[in-house]
Amino acid sequence: MHRSVIAGTGAYLPERVVTNDELAKRIETSDAWIRERTGIRQRHLAGPHETAAMMGAAASAAALKDAAATTRDVDAILLATSTPDQAFPATAVRVQAELGVLHGFAFDISAACAGFVYALSVGDSLIRTGQARGVLVIGSEVYSRILNWRDRTTCVLFGDGAGAVFLRAEESRERGILSTHLHANGGLGDILYVDGSVGQPDRPGHLVMNGKEVFRHAVTRLAEAVDEALAANGLSRTDLDWLVPHQANMRIIDSVGRRLGLPPDRVIVTVDRHANTSAASVPLALAEARQDGRIRKGDLVLLEALGGGLTWGSTLVRM
Ligand code: ACO
Repeated sequence: MHRSVIAGTGAYLPERVVTNDELAKRIETSDAWIRERTGIRQRHLAGPHETAAMMGAAASAAALKDAAATTRDVDAILLATSTPDQAFPATAVRVQAELGVLHGFAFDISAACAGFVYALSVGDSLIRTGQARGVLVIGSEVYSRILNWRDRTTCVLFGDGAGAVFLRAEESRERGILSTHLHANGGLGDILYVDGSVGQPDRPGHLVMNGKEVFRHAVTRLAEAVDEALAANGLSRTDLDWLVPHQANMRIIDSVGRRLGLPPDRVIVTVDRHANTSAASVPLALAEARQDGRIRKGDLVLLEALGGGLTWGSTLVRM
């Protein structure tokens, strides 16, 4: 049976690092408030040359290198973003050109912070149905360009960056993506949204959030999502080696980790250094933990995310 194996991972973070103290010089906030409520210490913010396409291509090139693959092995490019460089062409197509991929197809996926797990699910389906043998799945975000920098309740929470994985079709009973589960509830669209778009010339749009409501739903929905993923595979919490959660907030991450009974050192955390990079957060965390040797071949890893929509989902994968 064809399985989608995560053959390589890659990451790109903007050069400029901005600490909480630096933000506190511009808006009324403090390092203590941000750390206490969210666990965030700093974030990377993109310079003018660091576009979603540029960062996505850099993360993808690293993922291909890690997988010992070439551009000829890439049949499809799926890029999750809420901050595309242009309305069209899709940022994924820009990445295709930047990498020099000369065949196949490429498109973007919009599911806010859950975008990467949505894209992984689509990539896995393409491989299982035989439509592609090699798929780049990318999360790339420049939230700094849609934040209202005068709104201290949101602008301190986010950062920019990109992460990518290369999925390869392999005949395997052991390794690869075991299952993906996706959910959406459009009735909750107004608790986290952008109040404009490129289609509205005078309103490019800023992120708006009811933080308390998002928090409440995140804790409940993500707890259900992790139980659902384990039950679908006949596995129990003790089988899991690692949790790679969406990096929004340390308190949400802790609550899901506790639910799974996982010790903190089995939960991958980057939110302290990256803040919330939306669709890029899960692949950035996965790439970091693979690169530093924590997550290894054979490990059972649960990825989960929740974002504006609301959208949420999970991926269970044997590395
Ligand atoms: N610095 C200092 N004070 C602040 C700041 C800030 N940056 N932001 C808000 N405050 C103040 C508020 O004005 C308020 O003051 P008041 O009591 O005088 O009115 C006080 O701090 C408490 O504000 P709350 O909004 O009640 O703070 P809360 O404890 O709910 O924490 C937070 C806010 C961190 C956003 C929390 O609601 C949360 O974590 N929500 C989850 C949302 C999230 O993580 N979103 C990320 C995107 S969605 C996703 O990725 C899942």
